[in-house]
Amino acid sequence: MADQASRSSPGEPVGRGDGRLGERIARRIQERGPIPVSEYVEACLYDPDGGFYMRPAGGRSGGRSGHFLTAPEVGPLFGAVLARALDSWWTELGEPDPFTVIDWGAGPGTLARSILAAEPGCLAAGALRLVLVELSPAQRNLHPEHPIVTSVTSVAGVPEAGPAGVVVANELLDNLPFDVVRRTEDGWEELRVDADGASTGRFSLVAVPAAAELVAGLPDIAVGARVPVQRAARDWVAGAHETVGEGRIVAFDYGATTDVLAGRAGGSPDPAARLGWMRTHRDHDGGSWWLADPGSCDITTDVALDQLQTLHQAEVCTQAEFLRIHGIDQLVDEGRALWHERAGVGDLDALRARSRAREAEALLDPAGMGAFNALVWTVG
Ligand SMILES: C[S@@+](CC[C@H](N)C(=O)[O-])C[C@H]1O[C@@H](n2cnc3c(N)ncnc32)[C@H](O)[C@@H]1O
Repeated sequence: MADQASRSSPGEPVGRGDGRLGERIARRIQERGPIPVSEYVEACLYDPDGGFYMRPAGGRSGGRSGHFLTAPEVGPLFGAVLARALDSWWTELGEPDPFTVIDWGAGPGTLARSILAAEPGCLAAGALRLVLVELSPAQRNLHPEHPIVTSVTSVAGVPEAGPAGVVVANELLDNLPFDVVRRTEDGWEELRVDADGASTGRFSLVAVPAAAELVAGLPDIAVGARVPVQRAARDWVAGAHETVGEGRIVAFDYGATTDVLAGRAGGSPDPAARLGWMRTHRDHDGGSWWLADPGSCDITTDVALDQLQTLHQAEVCTQAEFLRIHGIDQLVDEGRALWHERAGVGDLDALRARSRAREAEALLDPAGMGAFNALVWTVG
């Protein structure tokens, strides 16, 4: 899949997962029985001692030297377009000061760097505050040091989360733990994670009856099809609405509606069969098997767009459409003009201007990042 490739990039190999994490998960299962997939994914990604994002190697994963490439990591153009969007919302809100922009799941802070470099009007006016929310200490260490930038582990620590602002989440929601359910002839089953043996480091999926609240609101899909249930992502949308009094919430991610994802997963009766909407990432090979060696790879799901909008309706368009609405073509044209003017000098500004066209190609690619979704909620 082309969009899968966009999150993969050549990088340094990382070590295997922390075997002790596998042992701890297996012990938990022996004590309590099979655990929800969300609990397993949470441990694999965010366990403080062995989660993929919490280990130093995984902590590099948002950067170019890591295991995948996100839109801000393609180059500064994505952040430059977003800076224009921020200015348009700031103006629409009557130029509030402070104007707080929260990058939730900020990774190494590359998007913030690009926004600062683009020098939007809200920055020049002294109104902009940038808050980077990031769980991983290794990633937080890479955040830019700047008087208007604050780095926090959760929004509970957001200073001046004023009434006006914008929450941005680029490829965060696919990384929030999710559960898995399967349609049966007469209802739904939940697939849980079981341990194959105390210390094998291998796990499998088993079916248990699904709790009514887990499957509430899911569309009717083909018998045998499996879909993710994204309660953490849905709660995130609700929490973001609490954080912004007036402004926007913008999430960029790959995904589709639940019924479309059901088609991607197929109807195999084998509960362990590959889940078509799940993506794992490690190095440049697309990742290892997610039920072995916990902590060794990123585990993500295509985002179920309908599940994110049960409480608040968003405007949804493709990432390419969003970038065009907010002026990517104009920025590329300006880059071309600057390159022609300064090609003889060949300085850094000229080279940066030239690279805009290549960055735009990647960001707008209809078979790749261009087809990602942009969800924009208007708050207040
Ligand atoms: C796929 S990376 C995307 C990083 C960055 N936004 C980008 O586009 O390059 C997702 C990031 O979200 C972070 N993350 C996951 N859950 C989080 C949460 N609840 N709060 C803050 N950060 C979180 C992870 O540690 C990881 O760095």
